[in-house]
Amino acid sequence: MDVLDCPLGTFELERVPVRPRQPLRAWDAADEYLLEAFGTTPPADGASVAIVNDSFGALAVALRSHTPILITESAAGREAVQQNLARNDLGPLTPLSMLELGALDRPIDVLIVKIPKSNAHLADLLGRIRPHLHPGSTIIGAAMSKHVRTSTIECFASMIGPTTTSLARKKARLVHATFDPDLTVEASWPVDWEYDGLTLVNHGGGFSPESVDVGTRFLLDNLPPVADLLAHTGAPAQVVDLGCGNGIIGLRLARDLDTSGIDFQLHFVDDSALAIDAAARSWEATRTTAVGGDEMRLHHCHRLVKAVAKNTADLVVVNPPFHDDRVIGDDTAWSMFTDAHSVLVGGGQIVVVGNRHLAYHAKLRKIFGEVDTIASSSKFVLLRARKRAK
Ligand SMILES: C[S@@+](CC[C@H](N)C(=O)[O-])C[C@H]1O[C@@H](n2cnc3c(N)ncnc32)[C@H](O)[C@@H]1O
Repeated sequence: MDVLDCPLGTFELERVPVRPRQPLRAWDAADEYLLEAFGTTPPADGASVAIVNDSFGALAVALRSHTPILITESAAGREAVQQNLARNDLGPLTPLSMLELGALDRPIDVLIVKIPKSNAHLADLLGRIRPHLHPGSTIIGAAMSKHVRTSTIECFASMIGPTTTSLARKKARLVHATFDPDLTVEASWPVDWEYDGLTLVNHGGGFSPESVDVGTRFLLDNLPPVADLLAHTGAPAQVVDLGCGNGIIGLRLARDLDTSGIDFQLHFVDDSALAIDAAARSWEATRTTAVGGDEMRLHHCHRLVKAVAKNTADLVVVNPPFHDDRVIGDDTAWSMFTDAHSVLVGGGQIVVVGNRHLAYHAKLRKIFGEVDTIASSSKFVLLRARKRAK
């Protein structure tokens, strides 16, 4: 447990999920910089305050007395904020996705943005928030300096209005934007594009929103016939697209299952609300069956075991994330693999694509016993493992 001592108070915070020997704190120098700024000039009483992309709740906890609007896409992030609020005896907050801002019943007076690393995400976010701002709104962004590029400032300037940056402090920087009511801003997201007969809908904050990721392409190019991946007999095959992003892998599986005449139920699972919305839209754009029908289920969730019942899935396919909150790590991949092992039926398979250097092979062997290499290149490897039947 770490203690954050800032001008707004002293708070106990923990990264969630809690891990033994966690070397990283639950906040960064950009959070500290923001909290110092609000220590000197706090939001006025009664001001409506919105916090976007608070990683583990440092900002929400410190500014809880203003009942901030929490705008965050990550299911894990939402859980972390609620746990850290509870840890400090503070009541829960209701999080919103940036796709749900229509629910706001008053304009935002103070907007605090932890700046996402992709400009596509930032532009999509600011474009959606802009209608909820007014000329008197205070707009502050923050990030580590290396992520505040000229293009970041240009993005704020083109979506909000005149923008300046602060001096760097502890390698973090603040961005101050002034709302220009006369600016003409056109929404550029979501976009859709075609790949191999599939229509993929993408939000700016989704994974690889402008084209197919090279790892995903490697997986799709080398995917064995779906009938070879299913141990299944009888009832609809339970198939999981884990970390579904825009739904590209699930849509390809659905098409292959149709072609093979196999009844199925496909589960799209993703930590990001943007991904779940994009997968639903891609499904609707590509297929004729409606979202909400029996063939497809959406799960906005960061633990597969919370989405799909144990010992029920016939196949899990995943291209795991390897950037966690700007840290390159394999914690998420590990929990995806262990959860997949729990939800698979005996004989059920997991198919995983990854960069060779991530050594997913060794992790899968530890969890599943045996692992096969389906395909490999100088950069990627496509692996499959089978859960032992009891
Ligand atoms: C490398 S992308 C793959 C996206 C898509 N399947 C593709 O291949 O284009 C990884 C996805 O995993 C999601 N993700 C991250 N952590 C997750 C978790 N704990 N559970 C489920 N999805 C997660 C991310 O939001 C992202 O959409």
